Amino acid sequence: MFAARRSFSLFQKRAFSASAAQASKVAVLGAGGGIGQPLSLLLKLNPRVSDLALYDIRGGPGVAADLSHINTNSVVTGYNPDEAGLASCLKDAEIVLIPAGVPRKPGMTRDDLFNTNASIVRDLAKAAAKSAPNANILVIANPVNSTVPIVSEVYKAAGVYNPKRLFGVTTLDVVRASRFISEVQSTDPAAEKVTVIGGHSGVTIVPLLSQSNHASISGEARDALVNRIQFGGDEVVKAKDGAGSATLSMAMAGARFAESLLRAAQGEKGVIEPTFVESPLFKDQGVNFFASKVELGPNGVEKIHEVGPINEYEQKLVDACLVDLKKNIQKGVDFVKANP
Ligand code: NAD
Ligand code: LMR
Repeated sequence: MFAARRSFSLFQKRAFSASAAQASKVAVLGAGGGIGQPLSLLLKLNPRVSDLALYDIRGGPGVAADLSHINTNSVVTGYNPDEAGLASCLKDAEIVLIPAGVPRKPGMTRDDLFNTNASIVRDLAKAAAKSAPNANILVIANPVNSTVPIVSEVYKAAGVYNPKRLFGVTTLDVVRASRFISEVQSTDPAAEKVTVIGGHSGVTIVPLLSQSNHASISGEARDALVNRIQFGGDEVVKAKDGAGSATLSMAMAGARFAESLLRAAQGEKGVIEPTFVESPLFKDQGVNFFASKVELGPNGVEKIHEVGPINEYEQKLVDACLVDLKKNIQKGVDFVKANP
């Protein structure tokens, strides 16, 4: 009995020192929303997260109180919707996820959200640049192709920009690509790996089927699959019929990306996720941000992978992507210049 108790306490001690060494504070800005709530739930269930800090202009403390009853080890704190609350939420965060912002309604493009979400993201980025300048910033708010450059401009103006720490979360495109390809090929979706590059809206989303296990898909079947991956978000917007866009699948995708960053930060090698980052790949064509496979590490971006071999069909998709992406990125940059 004594031995059992002793070994249990040793185990507890070891578990405690491991978690203390890997303490990770994760902040969610927009935690009361359709994405924010399930995302916060998934983070509360993640043993790599030691502190979960929740902020929203509405309902942060309520969501935090609810999640805080879950018997996992992390501490959950909700913050008041004011400047001091936001600053405390951000302080010492290793990861800051930003799902704050309005979602689409049927008939809207992601770019139609720009007028509302640009200033929300700019203001949250200003607060993060001040209170958590070294955190990894994971931007979920749309239009991602423009909101990520907005954050970079805000950080540059504050003198704290580190491109290795800024990510547009495009994981949902990758998740959808695996799922949709498995439906066509009758395979296990979890085992399907499809690289999706470019940006996060319509034709800027470029799935590279030729690099998947199903390079032989061609003709109409390929066109339909690529179109579904590019416009998967519209399916959900339509089905929700005015009540918003993808929230639950996005929460899963955001939690997966945060988990990948935490794994990499805690020493795991070879953690690779496609994500929208400042990238050298198409800089010569005036496109400074691009999603491609990125190896993550303790400093954020460890290595940006080349696009790799693609076929003629995919080259056309990339060409179309770059045209839109360039405009979307410039729009974000111009916004901060005109509205600092
Ligand atoms: P939602 O309206 O349900 O939630 C948004 C939350 O943000 C609300 O709780 C709101 O109070 C909060 N908020 C607004 N302004 C804020 C501010 N200044 N500070 C803090 N919180 C603020 O919307 P949602 O469905 O959760 O979607 C959020 C955003 O994520 C949208 O822009 C949507 O287009 C985008 N999105 C992106 C992806 C992606 O793949 N990157 C996927 C789905 C949705
Ligand atoms: C998505 O891809 O589901 C999101 O970007 C939300 C949207 O507006 O479609």
